[in-house]
Amino acid sequence: MSDAGRFLVTGALGCIGAWTVRTLVRDGAQVTTFDLGADDRRLRLIMTVEELERVRFETGDITDLAALRRAIDDSGSTNVIHLAALQVPFCRADPPLGARVNVLGTVNVFEAVRQQAASRPMAPVVYTSSIGMFGAGDADPVSGRLRTDAIPHPINHYGVYKLANEGTASVYWLDNGISSVGLRPMTVYGVGRDQGMTSGPTKAIVAAVLHQPYTVPFSGPTLYQYAEDVARTLIAASRSSIGGSHVFNLPGEVADGPTILAAIEAAVPGASEVIRFEPVDLPFPSEIDHDGIEVLGQLDVTPLAAGIRASAETYLALARAGRLEPAAHGLEPAAAGPAA
Ligand SMILES: NC(=O)c1ccc[n+]([C@@H]2O[C@H](COP(=O)([O-])OP(=O)(O)OC[C@H]3O[C@@H](n4cnc5c(N)ncnc54)[C@H](O)[C@@H]3O)[C@@H](O)[C@H]2O)c1
Repeated sequence: MSDAGRFLVTGALGCIGAWTVRTLVRDGAQVTTFDLGADDRRLRLIMTVEELERVRFETGDITDLAALRRAIDDSGSTNVIHLAALQVPFCRADPPLGARVNVLGTVNVFEAVRQQAASRPMAPVVYTSSIGMFGAGDADPVSGRLRTDAIPHPINHYGVYKLANEGTASVYWLDNGISSVGLRPMTVYGVGRDQGMTSGPTKAIVAAVLHQPYTVPFSGPTLYQYAEDVARTLIAASRSSIGGSHVFNLPGEVADGPTILAAIEAAVPGASEVIRFEPVDLPFPSEIDHDGIEVLGQLDVTPLAAGIRASAETYLALARAGRLEPAAHGLEPAAAGPAA
């Protein structure tokens, strides 16, 4: 066993999960996935068959503490990165299910690590919180920026559940000495980002490659984070020996619809013929401070244009190989006739 570590990643078949698994495998770490689904399509978009063969796949429900406990124990995992969750639209559609997965599921992760820590030293629990717990009105009234110590006033169930996750982390530190790092992304983009409220810009890259009409449901500025950068930060947090319960906002690059479209057009000429942006602002702050995160080490931010270009290159290669199905990327199936 290499000393790159033994990781269990919940929600590993999702977008950020796939990038986390890929990065860990390339680092030589042992990786066990724990996900409700069995569809590894996002991993197959960015990993080779040989890399996938090095992953241990567990199908399990995060609401089932015993199953999670077994998966951690059986895999010998010392590091848990918790990403399993339902995103904004799914929590809105079914709030009780959203609470079970996002709130109870996170309590289960902390409880499983607490129980495991009795027999094996465990790394800090790393989980994704979200800027989605803040409303636009939570930004500083003078600077317009969301300060790291801003008080959240969630505007949807998802935000309430993420806020609860941070409270759970805090209490597991106070009561049980379980250390944790919560990271709050804003708008993650990159290959595999095919669902959730802010997935539109990534879908637009796919639509541009397919030359298929698509309208991103917002155009106002937001803070973009490349999925691979988020994965690297999660892993750095897990490898840190940080004690206590910490939460950090993530750095990234702020852009609006026209800037995104220009970057897509540069990577996929003709994109502006098919991509539109609704003249709508997201109900979250876009200028976001990330003080304190430097404690996790040097974290590089991929420039937005480079992240969009890299994503477009992957999608173009998939299209050339006949492997770019619109429905697998959250898009409508291609129309039979010429685009209207
Ligand atoms: N994508 C973003 O922009 C963004 C922003 C802020 C926070 N986050 C958070 O980051 C995390 C990962 O986001 P993502 O974009 O990769 O999400 P995703 O929707 O792509 O993936 C979520 C994964 O969780 C799994 N899952 C759902 N219910 C489960 C259950 N009951 N048991 C086990 N697994 C279950 C799903 O099968 C899926 O593979 C989530 O916690 C999300 O809330 C994401």
